[in-house]
Amino acid sequence: MIAVASDHGGLDLKNAVIESLRGQKIACTDFGTDAHASVDYPDFAEKVARAVTSGEVKAGILICGTGIGMSIAANKIPGIRAALVHDEFTAQMAAEHNNANILILGGRVLSPEQGARLVDVWLTSRYEGGRHQQRLDKITNLE
Ligand code: RB5
Repeated sequence: MIAVASDHGGLDLKNAVIESLRGQKIACTDFGTDAHASVDYPDFAEKVARAVTSGEVKAGILICGTGIGMSIAANKIPGIRAALVHDEFTAQMAAEHNNANILILGGRVLSPEQGARLVDVWLTSRYEGGRHQQRLDKITNLE
């Protein structure tokens, strides 16, 4: 199960991402927001991040206007490796090198098609482990 959430700046892309996931029969749950009214992105980042670290969901996707605010907020939660990605290469590396458990997208940066594509790349890429694990361990130690 993947938790997906956005603020108002990411709402349209969130809806496109959920439609794409459901079209592929990939289980996901919508953590809001549900309207274009202005909301505070840290509230949604926290909900998804805590669902990931508790094991309620296996991964999360967060979307705000740029992706920057969601990224800053989600990475405050111990155990979260949230990666803001802009293209297929960074989406692939987020999985292969960083083992990102949350993918972050910018709703005012990407088209719906681009955003859905980056989600697919992240979900189909596999963490390589090996030399990357010692680096992730050092990040854990920073917490
Ligand atoms: C909201 O206007 C905007 O600041 C937010 O979506 C995000 O881009 C913050 O980083």
